[in-house]
Amino acid sequence: MNMTRREFVAVGLAGAAGLCVGGVAGAGNAVEPPPPPVGEDGYKLWLRYAPPGDAAKNYRPVVRRIRVDGSSATSGIIRAELHSAAAALLGGAVPSNENDLADGTVLVGTPGNSALIRDLNWVADLAAVGNEGFIIRSTRIGNSPVTVIAANTEVGALYGTFHFLRLMQTGRPIDRLDLAERPALQLRLMNHWDNPNGTIERGYAGRSLWQWDELPGKLSPRYADYALACASIGINGAVINNVNADPRILAPENLRKVAAFADVWRPYGVRMYLCANFAAPMRVGGVPTADPLDQGVADWWKAKADEIYGLIPDFGGFLVKANSEGQPGPKTYGRTHAEGANVLADALAPHKGNVMWRAFVYDEDVDPDRAKRAYIEFTKLDGQFRPNVAVQVKNGAIDFMPREPFHPLFGGMKQTPVIAEIQATQEYLGQAKHLVYLGTMWKEFLDSDTHAKGSGSTVAKVLAGQVHPGHLTGMVSVTNPGLHRNWCGHHFSQSNWYAFGRLAWNPELSAEAIADEWTRMTFTNDDKTAAVIRDLMMGSREAFVNYTMPLGLHHLIGGDHYAPRPWNDRALRSDWTATYYHKASEDGVGFDRTKRGDHAVEQYFPPVCDLFDDIAKCPEKHLLWFHHCAWDYRMKSGKMLWDELCAKYQAGAEQAAALQQTWQSLAGKIDSRRHQEVADRLVIQVADSAKWRDQILEYFGRFSKMPVPRASSESK
Ligand code: GCU
Repeated sequence: MNMTRREFVAVGLAGAAGLCVGGVAGAGNAVEPPPPPVGEDGYKLWLRYAPPGDAAKNYRPVVRRIRVDGSSATSGIIRAELHSAAAALLGGAVPSNENDLADGTVLVGTPGNSALIRDLNWVADLAAVGNEGFIIRSTRIGNSPVTVIAANTEVGALYGTFHFLRLMQTGRPIDRLDLAERPALQLRLMNHWDNPNGTIERGYAGRSLWQWDELPGKLSPRYADYALACASIGINGAVINNVNADPRILAPENLRKVAAFADVWRPYGVRMYLCANFAAPMRVGGVPTADPLDQGVADWWKAKADEIYGLIPDFGGFLVKANSEGQPGPKTYGRTHAEGANVLADALAPHKGNVMWRAFVYDEDVDPDRAKRAYIEFTKLDGQFRPNVAVQVKNGAIDFMPREPFHPLFGGMKQTPVIAEIQATQEYLGQAKHLVYLGTMWKEFLDSDTHAKGSGSTVAKVLAGQVHPGHLTGMVSVTNPGLHRNWCGHHFSQSNWYAFGRLAWNPELSAEAIADEWTRMTFTNDDKTAAVIRDLMMGSREAFVNYTMPLGLHHLIGGDHYAPRPWNDRALRSDWTATYYHKASEDGVGFDRTKRGDHAVEQYFPPVCDLFDDIAKCPEKHLLWFHHCAWDYRMKSGKMLWDELCAKYQAGAEQAAALQQTWQSLAGKIDSRRHQEVADRLVIQVADSAKWRDQILEYFGRFSKMPVPRASSESK
């Protein structure tokens, strides 16, 4: 672990040495940013602690000593991180201050482990930040000006420490702090789709991080680095195996391996969760059935839960994909999803564990339209789930498309907790080949107004329990790290891991602010360069939508989910084709989900329902999701639909080319290795976006029977 942790700070220290020379010599003058180091490989993610430029001179008087109270493993992590980060950021080691309090001490602790913090008597303020929140305050203790990072728990103090470091990493003032934070959501979980054989379903960054063959005896140093990265953005748990779960994960020998991980993660506040295969009682336990109402099955789950908690006392719970895409589930026995979830919930309840039951179901018998099925099944069961069950719902009703309207189950389930599942791994968004920042997409989702209880009932508020209060809350991300040295394959894909954590902590943060802080921590604190990178991130998802599935087109899918294939008309199920969704014909294109069509709009509350239903009012970004439009339908721009569609694809490819040019202009501004590696992937992105534009327009042109107009850039 030490080896790898030292790697986390090495570049920061090297950079700090560079700054220190400039900083001392030029005290009082503007300090030139140090030349970017050449050999960065991305391993350190956003925890590089590169010197913050000019701001460092303001930080040194505030961070002259470090005092971290407490003797637990978590306190040790805080101490180590604060020391190594401060040394790297400030250009020299910062001494500890364990006994007295000198001016400029950063003091970290809880009322439980620190008499100094207890004596501050911040009882009400600490009560307000809960178990995971923190307070950071510039204050005085005795005569000494100090900065206090206080929390009720040591994990809260760890989060506070990372918040404080983030302020320095992003060049913000730290001399007059008075802030209090608590996470908006309770469950902030990574969902790994990792298989025991080391492959990752929809993983694009190499093989699985988890070395099952070596466990439990040997623990890769990356397990701790991973947990540190999660903790740095407030992620408090991880489901480590694929939703298409191998039941053998629950076998005793594998649970011992899982427990070894959990021991590494515990001090970082990262709790262990597992995907459970619903047929596990039969497949691992030798029970003749998996019927949730069978007493033998209930007993098996109960004994299994007891066994798990014997090994992992803070085990978080089970995630279940049931009766979906071939997975077993309660419907096999004529039981409902609620009955299935409840048998697991009852087993976990005595240990305070939770069940996350996925709503990613699309049983063909429920409705001809895949987009409608989960809502129909789950709203019927509202209120029938145990309180420790949360229904886990993908952001949209189909499947992590480049753009979907929000899933109508958000706000639609009133008595059952609903948590959101988003996907950082970019399965349908360029995988690890395209630069696509998803913060903007997730904000579009979180800011969507469900109108469940009148205007202002945004998805973010639904998730935070502010619309239907009193429930479990949470957001999870199908996530992207693998064994690739830079964790996520594409350097920019790290921003999606980061943005998930920040939004799960606070869904009200802006995508732009998150992009800005990530850029400063990950690439450079130079204002101009950071602004250029932030802006290219901000436009990247819309560019991707434009050159793949604009104007509400969706599921133009086939093959490996990378290249859009609107011509895909053959699959095992019709709802796995592309033609099922776009319905292109000579008459027009798009899926009629209106009140004159298949009534899917009625799953939304008014006035959202009417907005989507009315072709004149429906946001054009969702047009072909809800409407079948003639090719010569007049768009708001005045163009015909066909011309608008062509313009979108053309703009998308141009935007990709512009991304590449902008990135080229940053050569020399950021370290050369990462610059080159991103540039190499942009070559693929630009080529593929142009190819996709041409292929898709050629295909749809067969129906529209109209020529592709010249791109606006060509006519200039
Ligand atoms: C998508 C994905 C599958 C995954 C499924 C799920 O369909 O392609 O690989 O198993 O989602 O979320 O369960």
